[in-house]
Formats: sequence, C-alpha cells, structure tokens
Amino acid sequence: MAQEVRGVIAPGKNEPVRVETIVVPDPGPGEAVVRVQACGVCHTDLHYKQGGINDEFPFLLGHEAAGVVESVGEGVTDVAPGDFVILNWRAVCGNCRACLRGRPWYCFDTHNARQRMTLTNGTELSPALGIGAFAEKTLVASGQCTKVDPSVAPAVAGLLGCGVMAGIGAAINTGSVGRGDTVAVIGCGGVGDAAVAGAHLAGASRIIAVDVDDRKLETARTMGATHTVNSKEADPVEAIRDLTGGFGADVVIEAVGRPETYRQAFYARDLAGTVVLVGVPTPEMKLELPLLDVFGRGGALKSSWYGDCLPSRDFPMLVDLHLQGRLPLDKFVTETIRLDEVEKAFERMHHGDVLRSVVVF
Ligand SMILES: NC(=O)c1ccc[n+]([C@@H]2O[C@H](COP(=O)([O-])OP(=O)(O)OC[C@H]3O[C@@H](n4cnc5c(N)ncnc54)[C@H](O)[C@@H]3O)[C@@H](O)[C@H]2O)c1
Ligand SMILES: [Zn+2]
Ligand SMILES: [Zn+2]
Repeated sequence: MAQEVRGVIAPGKNEPVRVETIVVPDPGPGEAVVRVQACGVCHTDLHYKQGGINDEFPFLLGHEAAGVVESVGEGVTDVAPGDFVILNWRAVCGNCRACLRGRPWYCFDTHNARQRMTLTNGTELSPALGIGAFAEKTLVASGQCTKVDPSVAPAVAGLLGCGVMAGIGAAINTGSVGRGDTVAVIGCGGVGDAAVAGAHLAGASRIIAVDVDDRKLETARTMGATHTVNSKEADPVEAIRDLTGGFGADVVIEAVGRPETYRQAFYARDLAGTVVLVGVPTPEMKLELPLLDVFGRGGALKSSWYGDCLPSRDFPMLVDLHLQGRLPLDKFVTETIRLDEVEKAFERMHHGDVLRSVVVF
C-alpha cells in the first residue's frame, strides 16, 4: 500500500520551497523504499529550485542522503530491509559501452525508480537527481542504495552521496593525487574542501587552498590545507608558483566552475601537471586559451563527474576511513536542521555561511 509522508517540494521556478504530503508507492521490481535519516542541502538543490537544471516542476528536492531500507520490490537481491545505505545517483547498468569496458564509474545509462512519487492530488514529482530525499521516505532504484557500516552517523554518511564524494573523487580518482604531490584547490566550499581532504588522505606534500572568503580558507586548513591564498588579495597563480619552488602544482582542482578560475588553474600547474574541473559552469560561459600553451604545458586537462566515483567501491571505503579517524567527514556538517528549514538553509548557503546544512529526521 502506498504511504503518505512529508517532503520538501520546489513548486515552480524561484518559488519558495514548502513541506507537502508526498505519496510513496510500494517498491516495484528493482525498486526500494528507504526511510531517510539525514539529507544534506547541496547547491544543486538550489539550482533545481531556480529552474537551472530543467523545468520539470514540481521537484521533490534533496539527494545527499542516508537511511535504512524499509522494503524492496521483486527481484531485488543487492539490499534488504534493515540495511543502512547511502543513496547514490550512479546506479550502474552493467551493459553500456563504459560498463562493458570495465569503467562503470563512467556508466552512460544509470537508472532510477520507474514509478513516480506524487502529491496527494496525483501530480507527479520529479525527484532531484533521481533521489528526492528531503522526505521521510523515498522510492529509488535498488542500485541507488549502497550499504555501508551502520556505525557512522547518518548526517555524515549522507554527504558522501554527492558533494563530498565529488570533491574527494576529483582529487583521488580523477586527479590521481599521490604521495608527495603538490596540490592546489581553487574554491573551497563543500566540494573544494572535500578535494583538500582527499588530497590530504592521498599523501599530498603541499595543499594550497584558494578562495575569496577568509572563513572558507580557515575551514580548508582544518581539512588538511598546508597553505592558503585569498585570491582577492593576491594573484593566485603567482602565489601557487611561489609555494611550489616557482613551478606550479602537480594537480590543480577547480571547484568554482568559472572561466577565470579555470584559467588560474591552467597556469598554476607545473609542466605536465593535471587540471581537474569539478565546478559546474553555466551554458553561456566560454574559455579562450592560446593553443600553444595547451600543447606546450603538456599534462592533462580533465573533468570530474561525481568524482568519477563507483559507489559500491568508494562509499564503504570512505566510511571506513572516517570511522578510523583518517577522514574528518563530520567537519562538513555545519548545522543540522528540520525539514521545514530548507528554505532558510538555501539563504545561508547563498551567503557562504555554511559548508553543509543537513536535515535530520
Ligand atoms: N562535478 C560534480 O560532479 C559536482 C558535484 C557537486 C557539485 N559540483 C559543483 O562544484 C562547485 C562547488 O560546489 P560547492 O557545493 O562547494 O559550492 P559552494 O558555493 O559551497 O563553494 C564555492 C566556493 O567558491 C568560492 N569562490 C567563488 N568565486 C571564487 C573565485 N573567483 N575564486 C576563488 N574562490 C571562489 C566561494 O567563496 C565558495 O567558497 C559548484 O559549481 C557545484 O555545482 C560539481
Ligand atoms: Zn553502464
Ligand atoms: Zn549534490
């Protein structure tokens, strides 16, 4: 029998979000219903509300979540009721050209639940990133549930479902940061700070955090940054070169998503170094670079989608490292809030006051 729960919807472009009654169907074949315990507020939820992703309103927001599987549909064998899981937006298909070549972290045919959650009047909801977890319960594809050690706090675990994984993965998966590498991270919000933490975990010798906000630079230090640069006060390219023997960093991670910061990343890396773009640009942005510099500086210019993560491989591993005290995921949780405080959390995010606000149920 379908259930009625409370959830946060974005009713229309730029309209305030509100709590509504959501109808959650019983799980069909390949689906699971998850009782959500915590869900972080991500910049992408705000993009949905602003109509920046698509215009399939109303959205059921929320996608950085952890909870307990309540029921599963026919044929589900990977998870069972009672399992503690982090929700992911990369349920790999196993059959596309990326999966068949053994590179499932690029899967081009990921899937979500087939059935739709609705309002009580029958209006179908579009769940953010196929998840929709600012709700007491949500319906997902069972492949979107990744089992992890249940002794981790749900508010911390959920963050691995999106932004924190994107940042850590940009450093360790896409950028292949290794022991002794020098790393610079431009833009130290939730994603950039996670890249700092990832570089620290991987054994980088020097981690230079760049931001325009001193509060962000302070937090970056607690994540493992060895040096900080306020790029309003100093030229970040010069500063990064000065801090790396005049050469530039081995890996520079751009976590803002703007042409000017990408250009900084491009010139702040050493010869044969790597640039990783994890910040998401908007459609009108353009980049112009001398092609000779692209050739002459060598190395790699890469983009990182969801930290090139494979949830089944990366989520349990990162939870374990956190539980061992080697990854301070708890520092990303600035505040815990109630379901009816999401709108306020967007406001605080906009002013740069928080790394993450997390709704706890
Ligand atoms: N690639 C992915 O899979 C993925 C996943 C999640 C988020 N993202 C993207 O990552 C980016 C960062 O997300 P977030 O949640 O950390 O956002 P955020 O708003 O918390 O952080 C952005 C940071 O950039 C800083 N900043 C702004 N302009 C700057 C400049 N000119 N120079 C240096 N720093 C500057 C801000 O002060 C802030 O600290 C966004 O574009 C987001 O959409 C990408
Ligand atoms: Zn695939
Ligand atoms: Zn997100």
